[in-house]
Amino acid sequence: MFSKRLKWNLEPNRFARLIEEKKRAGARILDLTESNPTRAGFDYPAEEILGALAQTPAMLYEPAPRGLLVARESVAGYYAERGFNVDPDCVHLTASTSEAYSYLFKLLADQGQSVLVPQPSYPLFEFLAALEGVELRPYELHYVHPAGWRIDFDTVEKAVASSARAIILVSPNNPTGSFAKLREVERLNAICAKHNLALIVDEVFSDYGFEEDESRAGSLVSNDSVLTFVMSGFSKILALPQMKLGWIVTNGPPGLREEAVERLDFIADTFLSVSAPVQHSARAWLRLRQPMQSQILDRVRGNLNWLADVTEESPLRLLSVEGGWYATLEAPRQFTEEEWAMALLEKDDVLAHPGYFFDFPREAFLILSLLPRAEIFREAVSRILARVERD
Ligand SMILES: Cc1ncc(COP(=O)(O)O)c(C=O)c1O
Repeated sequence: MFSKRLKWNLEPNRFARLIEEKKRAGARILDLTESNPTRAGFDYPAEEILGALAQTPAMLYEPAPRGLLVARESVAGYYAERGFNVDPDCVHLTASTSEAYSYLFKLLADQGQSVLVPQPSYPLFEFLAALEGVELRPYELHYVHPAGWRIDFDTVEKAVASSARAIILVSPNNPTGSFAKLREVERLNAICAKHNLALIVDEVFSDYGFEEDESRAGSLVSNDSVLTFVMSGFSKILALPQMKLGWIVTNGPPGLREEAVERLDFIADTFLSVSAPVQHSARAWLRLRQPMQSQILDRVRGNLNWLADVTEESPLRLLSVEGGWYATLEAPRQFTEEEWAMALLEKDDVLAHPGYFFDFPREAFLILSLLPRAEIFREAVSRILARVERD
């Protein structure tokens, strides 16, 4: 009856079952997997956000595959503020970055063809690719303490098969928080050019860098030596995932870029998924970027600094992180990360993701969201420390 693309076991896993049980028994779980900013106690200017939706022009239905010019100009304005020139005609609006991925997989890959993805990285790739019939070929990010994460180019070269159509770069990556460096982008461009691959760049967390760093690639929207698609959206930039606005900026060699834009028009025209009120609100919402981002950066930095202090002389090692909303802890390997995560949930009412959730290639890592309020974060981390010191 059903397609083979939905190949997953849809039964709740051990974690989900235990969480349900605990909640039924009235436990208060300290959730260090929380990545929903609307539940993390930030101060949203609700009146301004909701007020922007009530604009008369939104009563007109103007189907446009790239999205309304007024909204695409706002996206171009966002890049202009960051020092990058973007042509609004090369912007396609989507309902989310996840939808943007699905458009790009449709654009670039036939059934059974492949895209290269970083490992460790964001777990949704597996689902996004499988739903489009696309295969994933991992390339590795390699960690050296305390310098941080670098692309292992041997593994990139090995992952480029004849079926490969694109390389995905996530900068900064989730959950490693590592930014792509200019020298890495140069090498990726050379590999893409040699093997006729497109570069798909996910920059959803790029406004959340902790320090300035000249060696970093700020945004790849100006990358035109190979066909390049840069994605981002309001779910992270404005911490408004519920408003559903993302985009793709297309760049590349003349001719190829125009052809890609036209083909994306065709895909986007089939769905026309972004609502008029949201598009008309984009300009007003983007004005809230600085206050929203500074609240989030304060929270995330505060939690990270505290975590660095308390883990310094402990059995837990905090991996270097350059930006984003997550931190990675390496736990002693007398238990697997699944055992650590289960023990924390079962005995301490603390929920943290085990590293394998993000395809860490070895044991034993725990991934913590840095978004929770400081008091919740500190209590949860103190319980993790106590567990690790006890066991
Ligand atoms: C790296 C990365 N890309 C994309 C997304 C999805 O964003 P959106 O809500 O725009 O689909 C996420 C969500 O957590 C993410 O971590």
